[in-house]
Amino acid sequence: MKPLIPSDLHARSEHNQSKPRLMFFGDPHGDLDPVIAAVERFQPEAIVLLGDIQARQPLHVELRPVLDLTEVWFIHGNHDTDSDADYDNLWGSELADRNLHGRIVEIAGYKVAGLGGIFRSKIWDPRQPIKEASFASADTLHRSMRPEERWRGGVGRRHRSTIFPDVYLQLLRSPPADILVTHEAPAAHPHGWQAIDELAETLGVQLVIHGHHHQSIDYLAEGMQSAAAPFRAFGVDMGSHLAWPRNPQKETGSEVLPQDLLDLAMQVLGAEAPAWLDKPHKLLDGQTPAAFAAGGGSEKVRSMLNAIQYGGVV
Ligand SMILES: [Fe+2]
Repeated sequence: MKPLIPSDLHARSEHNQSKPRLMFFGDPHGDLDPVIAAVERFQPEAIVLLGDIQARQPLHVELRPVLDLTEVWFIHGNHDTDSDADYDNLWGSELADRNLHGRIVEIAGYKVAGLGGIFRSKIWDPRQPIKEASFASADTLHRSMRPEERWRGGVGRRHRSTIFPDVYLQLLRSPPADILVTHEAPAAHPHGWQAIDELAETLGVQLVIHGHHHQSIDYLAEGMQSAAAPFRAFGVDMGSHLAWPRNPQKETGSEVLPQDLLDLAMQVLGAEAPAWLDKPHKLLDGQTPAAFAAGGGSEKVRSMLNAIQYGGVV
């Protein structure tokens, strides 16, 4: 039987879940509770936040409960330069040196390459040749600016989350890697970029994982990518996570949810059912409804679905 939930990589039942080596978290946008709950539960060797963190306090303060449990890494997103507080709580944090942007770091046995931020056409539209970019580097932009336009002696805050050609090229010329984490999506996404694919293929990665679009996507399972593609790609939703490597026990289908529960979810939520079942929920201590049900909590998940059906907000 084909599992209902497309991303079988998502951590679920602790009854048959060995510790993941790596966990990737979609854009927190200020809410790090799902990250803390998942790390406490699954205790991965390391985690990577996929940008748009917008920590409300310095990141090391927000993540203090788990700093002894796991190794924290991240890339920044476009919203991490929305305000001085967003910027300072990340780049001013004691974890600031854990930004993977523009480099490759060995994490939990994998060589992980990072490209944070987004493409902004005022600097470089990656559909155009890189040599035709308006500015090759932050330094070039900085030199073109009037002193009053500068922010803290450098380029404007917004462009601290822009992808500049020199950083992209530096990464492109780096030694091979295993995994590429990006804020932007690869080309197969409707809002993705061929430049991400070219980077992934040049680095020879087997896996690309991105945030930004607030969707959990298994590109292969969704038919957005063929099995012959040079790398596998996953998007991770806000508040959700992806564990790597996949647990072989998941391949058995032993933790498929009870059919009547799946039927109820489809009846109540329609096409939204898979996403709802696979997204951590505060009423379930940060577990996903799928994990909670597979771990013996089917009744509670069923009652939540009934509440939604009859007008409750769950
Ligand atoms: Fe974003």
